[in-house]
Amino acid sequence: DGEMRKWEGGVSEVFSPIYVQTADGLKRKFIGSYPVCTETEAMEALEAATKAYDSGRGEWPTMSIDQRIKCLEKFTYKMIEQKDLVVKLIMWEIGKSFADSTKEFDRTVEYIHSTIDALKDMDRESSRFEIHENVVAQIRRSPLGVVLCMGPFNYPLNETYTTLIPAIIMGNTVLFKPPKHGTLLHYPLLKAFQEAFPKGVVNSIYGRGANIIPGLMKSGKINVLTLIGSSKVANDLKKLHPKVNRLRAVLSLDAKNAAIITPNADLKVAVEETILGALSFNGQRCTALKIIFVHKQVADEFLKKLSDAVAALKMDMPWVKGVNITPVAEPDKPAYIQECIDDAIANGAAVVNEHGGEMAESLIFPAIVYPVNERMKLYREEQFGPVIPVIPYESIEEPIEYQINSAHGMQVSIFSNDPEEVSSLIDPFVNLVSRVNINSQCQRGPDVYPFTGRKDSAEGTLSVVDGLRSFSIRSLVTTKMNDANKH
Ligand code: G3H
Repeated sequence: DGEMRKWEGGVSEVFSPIYVQTADGLKRKFIGSYPVCTETEAMEALEAATKAYDSGRGEWPTMSIDQRIKCLEKFTYKMIEQKDLVVKLIMWEIGKSFADSTKEFDRTVEYIHSTIDALKDMDRESSRFEIHENVVAQIRRSPLGVVLCMGPFNYPLNETYTTLIPAIIMGNTVLFKPPKHGTLLHYPLLKAFQEAFPKGVVNSIYGRGANIIPGLMKSGKINVLTLIGSSKVANDLKKLHPKVNRLRAVLSLDAKNAAIITPNADLKVAVEETILGALSFNGQRCTALKIIFVHKQVADEFLKKLSDAVAALKMDMPWVKGVNITPVAEPDKPAYIQECIDDAIANGAAVVNEHGGEMAESLIFPAIVYPVNERMKLYREEQFGPVIPVIPYESIEEPIEYQINSAHGMQVSIFSNDPEEVSSLIDPFVNLVSRVNINSQCQRGPDVYPFTGRKDSAEGTLSVVDGLRSFSIRSLVTTKMNDANKH
């Protein structure tokens, strides 16, 4: 409610995925602490958001778009002043390279600028009156109420803001819980929110989601749930809402994006894009390539080229120039990746590249695992780490069947230089996933493209324009003309 306040739940210490030498040997570096809210305090934040919305009559939901844009511009100006600190915190909290942490910050600022432009266009629609028969109609974009917003650890600033910013700017009030890994970096921005927006519009809560989020959902006062994270968590939270049919959900969830390397692929391109797709930020992206189907005819050559390309990657600390592989963010990730590799080996596969899967603290050298089959975890689970499972196929029906049977439907990459083959593959896949990439990796950007998924991978759509739509409703004011109001 616009105040920095005291809290009762103690603090949680934050340790970086980056290890440093201490008197007791190598340890994760302690980098700070954050407050842990009690459930009562989280409910007070909800009350503040509910009061500020005031059933749509509050200062913020009734404010003109121009005025709201001025608040957002003020926020952005203050946000940019915090760039150096926020970028360093991204790097230390999640181990993202300094270069990519900087890109994440810049992409976010660019996203906000594009959002403001898109909003101005949308506002033109609201100020237009259309006359049909004897009725004057005005279409407006109206807010939905109180939004509970939770972002992911892998883009703790950028992807969080792709929901938070459109939610705010469309006139909703917001309860915002930063991700567990990626909390500290939000602290320098709290003051910017406080100074730029009216009280109660943005309410930040910290702490253990399992303790504070269920109560918020059960209250029935959340109108929109937005989460970028796991499909299971999203489903569990939705079920807690007493009137789930009145809850709008904007979700970006689990994915297992496949690449298909056909015999007609340019293998150099396929390898370059597989490296980017599977290993950017150590494979910790929902859009990462998480399973590769390669035609038997070209499998050996592809594996050789892919192994050579992986061997050339630089694994080091995030501040090292040109680094490719950095510490993984989640403390339990190395053990999980080892489990996936062991399981694949036990079921008949091998790590085919030199040093693949070797680990030192939170650093994991990328492993290429081949040949993967349906008995393995790497076939079914979203590894979210630096492992590339590769499956040889004979008939194109095999990857199509995989996609049909998959619980996920985010994106696919198809590599082929044969135009007829490409066009024959677009239709089956475009109706199974939400984006087909020809001869390139899977990815969310540029941020003007719609970003969504099918099946368990998403609900609602994000992007510059779609984000604004997702957090609002098109409502209508109609005036029937009569003799008194005709003029
Ligand atoms: O982790 C999911 C993100 O949406 C991935 O975004 O494709 O821009 O890296 P990106």
